[in-house]
Amino acid sequence: MRLSRLLVLSAAGGTLAQSLLDILTAQSATLSTLTAWLTSQQLVYDILSNARGITLLAPSNTALTQLYTTPLVGQLALDPNLLTAFLSYHVLDGVYLASDFVNTPAAAVPTFMNMKAYSNVSGGQVIETRSQNGAVTFYSGNGVQSNFEKYDYNYVGGTLHIIDTALSIPSSLTDTLVAGGLTAAVGAIRRAAVETPLNMATDVTIFAPNNDAFDAIGSLVNNMTLEQLTKVLNYHVIPGKVLYSQLVPGDGSEVTAEGGSLNFKIQNGSLFVNSARVVAADVLIGNGVVHVLDGVLNPDNPTAVPDPNAATQEPAFNGASSTAGGVPFTSAVITTTSTATVPASSGASEPSVVPAAAPRRMAAVGAAGLLGGVVALVNWCV
Ligand SMILES: *[C@@H]1O[C@H](CO)[C@@H](O)[C@H](O)[C@H]1NC(C)=O
Ligand SMILES: *[C@@H]1O[C@H](CO)[C@@H](O)[C@H](O)[C@H]1NC(C)=O
Ligand SMILES: *[C@@H]1O[C@H](CO)[C@@H](O)[C@H](O)[C@H]1NC(C)=O
Repeated sequence: MRLSRLLVLSAAGGTLAQSLLDILTAQSATLSTLTAWLTSQQLVYDILSNARGITLLAPSNTALTQLYTTPLVGQLALDPNLLTAFLSYHVLDGVYLASDFVNTPAAAVPTFMNMKAYSNVSGGQVIETRSQNGAVTFYSGNGVQSNFEKYDYNYVGGTLHIIDTALSIPSSLTDTLVAGGLTAAVGAIRRAAVETPLNMATDVTIFAPNNDAFDAIGSLVNNMTLEQLTKVLNYHVIPGKVLYSQLVPGDGSEVTAEGGSLNFKIQNGSLFVNSARVVAADVLIGNGVVHVLDGVLNPDNPTAVPDPNAATQEPAFNGASSTAGGVPFTSAVITTTSTATVPASSGASEPSVVPAAAPRRMAAVGAAGLLGGVVALVNWCV
């Protein structure tokens, strides 16, 4: 389902005459920081002031103040392009009133962030929205969630909503997987030397097995040749398409980079890919979307079907088992979440992988942000 795009607002008389500046000024108690950031980029501010048919998701002062505890603000200060990208990510292409979001269960809404350095999603990077019981949540990079503080400030260019958490620019596939603790998938991608092509591609859908999934077939994946591993990994990639959850065919199939097809089924409130369950959906990345699986997909077993009533599924690789050697492929992958577990006194070294636009709360909620994100365990949206 798509959100309606209202190009003409039917607001009460008088409100249409308001400019963006009028709104920002009237709401200065909440939006003075954003106003300062916007006016520091005169070109962006001018474009925004003159734009028509847009929705501005305006982070509150509290939301932007929270960013000052992260490396992002320093990066924004040094890099005007990043600041432009950050600001344009908060501008939606179309006028969406709060009621449009409330009335749409799930949607990927295009933004104006379309600079190649920050987005390889055709038509511009999106935010994913979810509406449940009248509450709307916006999901951005690394599963960061934002909610309305206030909404429907209509003005001549469209409408403005105040949000409680700044949107996070989606980072690369591998940075996102590392942040989410999906280190086996990252290690496998690096072992097979497909990291660069995957990060450089335009428009991809990636099904990323979690660490338990790789662990369950440790006896087998550890012994795969590079060719075999690459074949398995390519079976997890749908090239040239960004299939957000609401676009995944509920009962259908899609062709993978490996050449074989994946079969989708919604059963018992979960989405299954062959026999693997999607345990977290719609994790946005710089060039598409990731859905996290509880099993590794087997290109030689495309007819594997799930037992929808079982909490966990048999691996799609017959006879494979866990090994004593630990989770496969993880030993060389350094995680950004280590700060949460390493004692402060240990002098833990700086994480070696820092997402380009480190979202706030990365250290605290890395995995939780992903796995507690747009979760699809029950009531899968179609
Ligand atoms: C987009 O792709 C180009 C290569 O075509 C790459 O240099 C750039 O880093 C990519 N950006 C993102 C956000 O993936
Ligand atoms: C698989 O690799 C393990 C070491 O990880 C080795 O002990 C085992 O013999 C190998 N099995 C096969 C079937 O090659
Ligand atoms: C769905 O699966 C759960 C176990 O994950 C099970 O307890 C429940 O009975 C199932 N529901 C239906 C409708 O099959």
